Amino acid sequence: MINQKYASLLEPFEFQNGISLKNRVVMAPMTNYSSNEDGTVSDAEVAYYVRRSKGVSMVITACTYVTPNGQGFPGEFAGHTDDMIPSLRRLATAIKSEGAKAILQIFHAGRQVPKDIAPNGDVVSASNVPSEGEGKPVPRALTETEVESIIRDFGETTRRAIEAGYDGVEIHGANTYLIQQFFSPHSNRRTDRFGGSLEKRMTFPLAVVDEVQRVVKEHAKEPFIVGYRFSPEEPETPGITMADTMVLIDRLANKNLDYLHVSLMDFWSTPKRGVDDSRSRIEIIQEAVGDRVSVIGVGSIYSAEDARKALTSGIPLIGLGRELLIDPEWVQKIEQGREDEIVTELDINKQEELEMPTTLWQRILKNPGWVPGV
Ligand SMILES: Cc1cc2nc3c(=O)[nH]c(=O)nc-3n(C[C@H](O)[C@H](O)[C@H](O)COP(=O)(O)O)c2cc1C
Repeated sequence: MINQKYASLLEPFEFQNGISLKNRVVMAPMTNYSSNEDGTVSDAEVAYYVRRSKGVSMVITACTYVTPNGQGFPGEFAGHTDDMIPSLRRLATAIKSEGAKAILQIFHAGRQVPKDIAPNGDVVSASNVPSEGEGKPVPRALTETEVESIIRDFGETTRRAIEAGYDGVEIHGANTYLIQQFFSPHSNRRTDRFGGSLEKRMTFPLAVVDEVQRVVKEHAKEPFIVGYRFSPEEPETPGITMADTMVLIDRLANKNLDYLHVSLMDFWSTPKRGVDDSRSRIEIIQEAVGDRVSVIGVGSIYSAEDARKALTSGIPLIGLGRELLIDPEWVQKIEQGREDEIVTELDINKQEELEMPTTLWQRILKNPGWVPGV
């Protein structure tokens, strides 16, 4: 029997487009470095998702690249050609067969593409500004025609997601990748219609949203979820401030999106600069968008109590990332009133039991502090 204290986590939820979720907990997108060499999803990867798709109401997949020069990691599954539709379908079917909605995260890594993965070593971005840190490649600034082509590529991968049976796509505008690079005054020093003022830095992100929505209108026969993920601030100067983000989310909130997903490592983190408000970023964002669009919050929500508290911020949905690596039965334990048994530190002897693909497992073990318990 469920403990009534946590009942709010298991309440159903309905998006404005009519699609309903069985509860308030979604799986956050996590790259697993484990796809096949040819860009198709691997058996280990599918097993990993199956194991984590029973409890949560919606699974947002690892990011898939919309064009070859957007691949951000080795072992990332591809979404850039129609040849990949069977692979994409295999993943959607696996997730949905366990009862969760399947959302494909679509992206281009821009200047974060490792030079050895970039076709011909050609790393591209909004401008020729490298990211901060040792040995980062100097990217080539995309031409206006190339930018327009990438916008269409986001639409093409959305069409493939529809054909492959996904319930929606999440536009990955967060975590320093290309969409964020266009919005950021650090990486975008353009002087054409894609850069210059704050207004112009929004041109690319908003054009991607418009194109994805155009394709959905044209191709989807049933309601199809479109979400947008963003990182509210950057540490660099110049860099995205909370003030910039307030303008962007106001625009996004008027676009009839199904959700905004705020990418944070700490759910309750507070703004660094740009607004005179001591509340958490998530509360500020929720208040600003109101009921125009649903908000997903994420970041170090480990226990049932953490999750219950997160919902008191006023947002309707929470995302779990690392927690589901550690404990794939997180939601089921709450359903069964066994929330005290939720595991919050990775047991490094349980790779097989946890259905963790080997490359992801090795990366976690090599990066102490990344996942609790390691
Ligand atoms: C192994 C790993 C891979 C990740 N890959 C992605 C990704 O592909 N796309 C993305 O938007 N965020 C990615 N993230 C960030 C998570 O979605 C999430 O925002 C972050 O881990 C904080 O949430 P958590 O505390 O619940 O783990 C990744 C995080 C981890 C730990």
